[in-house]
Amino acid sequence: MTITGSVPPRLVAAVALVDPAPDARVLEVGCGRGAAAALLLERLPGGHYTGIDRSATATAATAARIADAVARGRAEVHTTTLAEHRAQPADVALAVNVNAFWTGPASRELAVLAAALRPAGVLHLVWGSDGGAAPRTDVVDRLTVHLDAAGFVPEVALPARDGVRLLHVRARLAQAGR
Ligand SMILES: C[S@@+](CC[C@H](N)C(=O)[O-])C[C@H]1O[C@@H](n2cnc3c(N)ncnc32)[C@H](O)[C@@H]1O
Repeated sequence: MTITGSVPPRLVAAVALVDPAPDARVLEVGCGRGAAAALLLERLPGGHYTGIDRSATATAATAARIADAVARGRAEVHTTTLAEHRAQPADVALAVNVNAFWTGPASRELAVLAAALRPAGVLHLVWGSDGGAAPRTDVVDRLTVHLDAAGFVPEVALPARDGVRLLHVRARLAQAGR
């Protein structure tokens, strides 16, 4: 079975960029209706997925979409803001089209992610649309300032995949091994 056809292309592209290890523990912030969750779980046969969203409508849709994985203990979904989330240790954190990271310092949100990510963990912040439009880049300076202040080392890229153009900020913890 493939579910790719029902998934927005930006999420197919974003999950391909993240490319988690099969046993990774992944935290997705702003999981929306769970399309990326389903794609990620296909790549996590020995791993675990946690999706959070502040919208109960979104988390209900995600939980329904990945109900089998939730029932098997391979996934969990929580209705919460990132700032209030009690995150478990994670190897990968992902957020697609979640603007909180550039609209303000996001210091509480990034502190939650910094505490959750394991020393070699990676945070992926991705923005893009499905129509092939170029992602906005005027937010990059703010993003990098916010990430740097929170103890992350960001790398910025503008990849394209299958007609989708993305802004991809990949960030590691500056003090790995804490
Ligand atoms: C534009 S939607 C993107 C959803 C999905 N990632 C996608 O690309 O289809 C942003 C989502 O992030 C959620 N969100 C925004 N800020 C959040 C925060 N601080 N904590 C938790 N969820 C948040 C919203 O409720 C919304 O579902």
